[in-house]
Amino acid sequence: MTTIKLPGLIDPHVHVRDLNQSHKEDWDSCTASALAGGITCVMAMPNTQPPITNLESLKMQQEAARARARCDYGIFLGAGVENIETAHTLASQTSGLKMYLDQTFGPLRLDNLDSLVAHAERWDKNRPLLCHAEGRTVAAAILVAHLANRSVHICHVSRKDEIELIAAAKMKGIQVTCEVCPHHLFLTLEGCRLPAGYIEVRPRLATQEDVDALWANLEAIDCFATDHAPHTRQEKESDSPPPGYPELETALPLWLTAIHENRLTLDDIVKRMCNQPQKIFGVPTQADTWIEIDTDLEWTVRGETMFSRAKWTPFEGWKMKGKVTAVYLREELVYDGEKVLAPLGTGRNINEETL
Ligand code: NCD
Ligand code: ZN
Repeated sequence: MTTIKLPGLIDPHVHVRDLNQSHKEDWDSCTASALAGGITCVMAMPNTQPPITNLESLKMQQEAARARARCDYGIFLGAGVENIETAHTLASQTSGLKMYLDQTFGPLRLDNLDSLVAHAERWDKNRPLLCHAEGRTVAAAILVAHLANRSVHICHVSRKDEIELIAAAKMKGIQVTCEVCPHHLFLTLEGCRLPAGYIEVRPRLATQEDVDALWANLEAIDCFATDHAPHTRQEKESDSPPPGYPELETALPLWLTAIHENRLTLDDIVKRMCNQPQKIFGVPTQADTWIEIDTDLEWTVRGETMFSRAKWTPFEGWKMKGKVTAVYLREELVYDGEKVLAPLGTGRNINEETL
């Protein structure tokens, strides 16, 4: 057994749900799932029910998190046509503004160029501006941000043309950062054996050529994010299955397994799940916070035993090598390799308090 110690990981793309969708997940189950996956800070996406687009909904989500979060967190605000004039007034209470430029789960969507430009110009230049963008909208997001003299973060990049465009923009010194998710690095649409409804995810799974291009452009990938997007089995098996995969508990084990296959180094992981997310999303250093990993522990992924309320995983039955054996948050043991020990409300809002 080889035990190593790493800093607590940061996941900048998590669908915590809660509020009116706590049957899918809430702050309690989501942050327990995060801790079991070695993640000590989650950044919550705003496509909730109701969506987080104004002071009232932001307060509701802050209160839910304050009561139930077991690890630290930030909350993103969602951009809509109705909050062009008000979104930026809430910037200091949030971890960034998320703009949905393509169709996905939930009602948040920015369809016209005018509103994209207006949000990019008004949003605080010191806070992240994040985009769900696919194909041509990646180019639109980068140009609009560049013209507004600000940075932009492209979420869940999945395709060859997208990562190559981002790499080319970076070469020109344009302020763009991006994240890639485990499923886009380990699964292809053709090779995926999941039942139909379970395959659904946005952006969709892509081809082997896309997957290879992501691995080949690792240097252009700033962060690894899970895009943990839990939906129930019943919803996934329905006639209109919502897109998304629960992934907080499998991300780090997948990266650790990839180390054994000589596809990644430990440094690649720490950079993309700690140092760079900390820098891009302004996450304060979590004092006396670390995780312990048994790098040789072999185990098989089972959705049934996960802390996430979803109880299924796109990696069911996969053999992993490497597992989190302990998590310490501010010196307290909050996960012992089997049980989550952090009480509800242990987590702190990174935008409200000094950690
Ligand atoms: C996400 C969800 O379920 O909220 N689904 C997904 O397929 N990734 C939304 C999103 O991130 O696009
Ligand atoms: Zn997402």
